[in-house]
Amino acid sequence: MSQQQRKSIVVLTGAGVSAESGISTFRALDGLWQNHRVAEIASPQGFAVNPSLVHRFYNGRRQQLVSGTVQPNRAHLALAELEARFRGKFWLVTQNIDDLHERAGSEKVIHMHGELLKKRCAHCGDIGMATQALKITDTCARCHRTGGIRPHVVWFGETPLRMGEIYDALKCCDLFIAIGTSGNVYPAAGFVDAAAAVGAHTVELNLEPSAVESAFAEKKYGPAGTLVPDFISRLEG
Ligand code: OAD
Repeated sequence: MSQQQRKSIVVLTGAGVSAESGISTFRALDGLWQNHRVAEIASPQGFAVNPSLVHRFYNGRRQQLVSGTVQPNRAHLALAELEARFRGKFWLVTQNIDDLHERAGSEKVIHMHGELLKKRCAHCGDIGMATQALKITDTCARCHRTGGIRPHVVWFGETPLRMGEIYDALKCCDLFIAIGTSGNVYPAAGFVDAAAAVGAHTVELNLEPSAVESAFAEKKYGPAGTLVPDFISRLEG
């Protein structure tokens, strides 16, 4: 099916799409989860036990994001161009909490695991921008309580965001592309099955076969900065 015939595309991205921008992935040997205990820094229980440790981890990642040292790469740019040119429906669902898709020009990004540049009050649910370091002494601008300000990110044991919209998109897509994700974390790792169930063509673009590679009809392996622009230009050609 050519791009002209396609009516609806869902793209899912993971940490691998931002790797060439200098942001560490989670499960590589030098990745974020090798150097940190996941339960301590990425769970509501971890935050309750040691909020300063959790803030330190996310403050460091946020600092990297706003420092100007990381920039969108060719994969982010190619996806933004595809969204701008494609005449059908297009959804970019990302597990990433960085803002590199937006900086590349993508307009309708669904951050299913939240956003590093936002904070949320655990007491009243208020969501605001967070470009500076968060502290346990921060007070909520809405409910004025202290101690509840946390990164607006999804932790283990919490429900990913905007799942209804994502499954609605998967139900009507005819092309599903997963980019730079290891396929270890559900529900995202199961999106390929939902897309295949409605007859969509499914494509994996990753550095190496993911944990769910057998579910994909088409797969290509290599760095996203090369693979994604190549795949998109063939799709449009
Ligand atoms: P992972 O670290 O699990 O996987 C990253 C994937 O990207 C791996 O399969 C790598 O082979 C691949 N990769 C690395 N460099 C690449 C490159 N230059 N080009 C293409 N692919 C590359 O990251 P995710 O799958 O995104 O969730 O992890 C999913 C979720 O697990 C994250 O959103 C996070 C984490 O726990 C939460 O924190 C809730």
